[in-house]
Amino acid sequence: MNESFSPGLEDVVAARTQISFLDLEAEQILIRGYDLIELADAVGFTDVAHLLIHGELPTPGRHALFESALASECRLPAEIVTLLGTLAPQTAPMDALRTGLSALAGFEDPQVLADASRGANIDKAVRILAKAPAVAVNSFRMSRGLPPAEPDPSKQFTERFLAMIPGADADPAAAATFDRVLTCYAEHEMAASTLAARVVASSLADIYAAMVAAAASLKGPLHGGANEAAARMFSEIGAPQRAESYLKEKLQAGERIMGFGHRVYMNRPDPRAVLLRGDLDSIAARKPETAQLVQTYDRCVEVMAREKGLHPNADLPIGLILSLLDIPIELFTPIFLCARIAGLSAHVIEQQEANKLYRPRVLYAGPRGLHPGQDPT
Ligand code: COA
Repeated sequence: MNESFSPGLEDVVAARTQISFLDLEAEQILIRGYDLIELADAVGFTDVAHLLIHGELPTPGRHALFESALASECRLPAEIVTLLGTLAPQTAPMDALRTGLSALAGFEDPQVLADASRGANIDKAVRILAKAPAVAVNSFRMSRGLPPAEPDPSKQFTERFLAMIPGADADPAAAATFDRVLTCYAEHEMAASTLAARVVASSLADIYAAMVAAAASLKGPLHGGANEAAARMFSEIGAPQRAESYLKEKLQAGERIMGFGHRVYMNRPDPRAVLLRGDLDSIAARKPETAQLVQTYDRCVEVMAREKGLHPNADLPIGLILSLLDIPIELFTPIFLCARIAGLSAHVIEQQEANKLYRPRVLYAGPRGLHPGQDPT
């Protein structure tokens, strides 16, 4: 047995994949051979989702077919809406989304649900991707006493998603920015939630079970929850001149500053954060009242680089961008998951196509040789 142990599986290769790779040498996030940053500039989220789920960028005809498949599957069964309405009022949308994804499994034909073939998994992935936004947004709406929103199949995926969110910026420019956020979140190699999904899929449990595991993992503040934490930080700081003292106080108290640092990028900037910094300028040009928060962002980045040598990850700009698009903060991590369903689906499909059950070993550090009735001290 190989007894090498890497806490947090740091630097451990956990899968052979054709889906994505954080290529530090090329300074690229490779998605099936394409640079994610180039994709974000050239195509929309649903094209990247198609690339992930179907394995190739769509032609214009296939793009239209994919959008119409998502539109035809966007509505929720009435029982799911009822279920969301019966959850405790304080249930976080991220928890409701996890619950809703689990409950949606019951609406699949049991044979289709259990079918781990590529074709069956692709069909289920499209249904999950199509329905997840309505689950996330409606759980939030109902927790606020608002009526559930009916997803509009005449709209495209991104516009339909944004239109359901109460209070969200309705400018077409906001939809374009939101779409780039979804693209940046679509896939990012072996994040904790992706490993969770692959581990569950490797037992040949169904794709819904894998999504529920991923949702549970993504909730944490060290992973998807960082975007909400980053947004709360910007609203606490409020003005650029307060950034330095705020951050120094937190760092001196030994606190982590959410939205900074990354296991793989270490001391390099996350390419998605570099890209999305430009979107903050576009928002500030359109909404001058937000300029002060964008300056606060820059000040935080300067201070963290100087004090800790840490750079922003994608959650830092995205936390601020979603706030500036007037999206309720409770939806930030659910939005991350809704986009990541594209990448997670690709991983489940790939895992089950060439499956090997995940079953690692441990480095045992406990006692030996004890017997019942014997005092272990
Ligand atoms: N703020 C303050 N200190 C940080 C930090 C942050 N955001 N990120 C890392 N550090 C410090 C740790 O405190 C630790 O310091 P120490 O050695 O003095 O104890 C050191 O850097 C290494 O941290 P560690 O947690 O072991 O590294 P990691 O590779 O596991 O870290 C993260 C990766 C993402 C968990 C970490 O950077 C973090 O917690 N970031 C904030 C959460 C976040 O933004 N998550 C989204 C990631 S995409």
